Amino acid sequence: MEFIITDSPMDMNVRAAALIEDYLRADPACVLGLATGTTPIGLYKKLVDDCAEGLVHFDQATTFNLDEYCGLDPRHQQSYRYFMNKHLFDHVDIDKSKTFVPEGINKDAHSVCASYEQAIQAAGGIDMQLLGLGSNGHIGFNEPAEAFPVTTHQVELSDTTIKDNSRLFDSIEDVPRRAYTMGIGTIMAARSVLVVAEGAHKAAIVKEAFFGPVTPQVPASILQFHPCVSIMVDPAAGAYCKEYLTNR
Ligand code: F6R
Repeated sequence: MEFIITDSPMDMNVRAAALIEDYLRADPACVLGLATGTTPIGLYKKLVDDCAEGLVHFDQATTFNLDEYCGLDPRHQQSYRYFMNKHLFDHVDIDKSKTFVPEGINKDAHSVCASYEQAIQAAGGIDMQLLGLGSNGHIGFNEPAEAFPVTTHQVELSDTTIKDNSRLFDSIEDVPRRAYTMGIGTIMAARSVLVVAEGAHKAAIVKEAFFGPVTPQVPASILQFHPCVSIMVDPAAGAYCKEYLTNR
């Protein structure tokens, strides 16, 4: 596990974007796993700028997003499909038919989840999975639980996540109560993983997830067992972990 405390949020975005661009340059047809949330917005902006300058291309890449709210139409401004179009896909040279987000509007959970796993397999698996970190340790929408869920599934969102995400909706009542998410097994099967975390409100969970016991009560802790994981945090999120850093 590589644990890097970057110099600033901007430095984190630049370094995280550089890592993703390394994958795209080494294999332009690589398969990227992508995340939404506030944390990756700056790094997506860097990817957009670099693509505009011709420094990186997405035209052969395939992407799979981690998750989507159940019941939200792709045109809903809080849907993750809308987010991805707004922050990345509309501004880079990607073939949108090769960008996948779980079909939140489809109520047939079994079919949505099984076909998502099949599509990932058909694409050859995920080369590089980008993750944010929930304040309760969730990755994707894998919430603290008694066991690690394996494959893509439908989840009931925890009260913490509903409260955290209500900032983006008109009211807390508007936050969907369910989502589709890749499972922990889906995420762990990615050939490499990059986690980004930013802000003082993530400092405690960064320490717990990456330097505490591995437990399904802190879903991100499983990443301690992944053979190729980089964790990049800003100074505020890394405040309790200075002794662990592997900065080079
Ligand atoms: C988003 C996702 C979530 C977020 C996490 C952190 O697709 O799967 O796990 O990465 O909730 O969100 P932010 O970055 O908003 O703090």
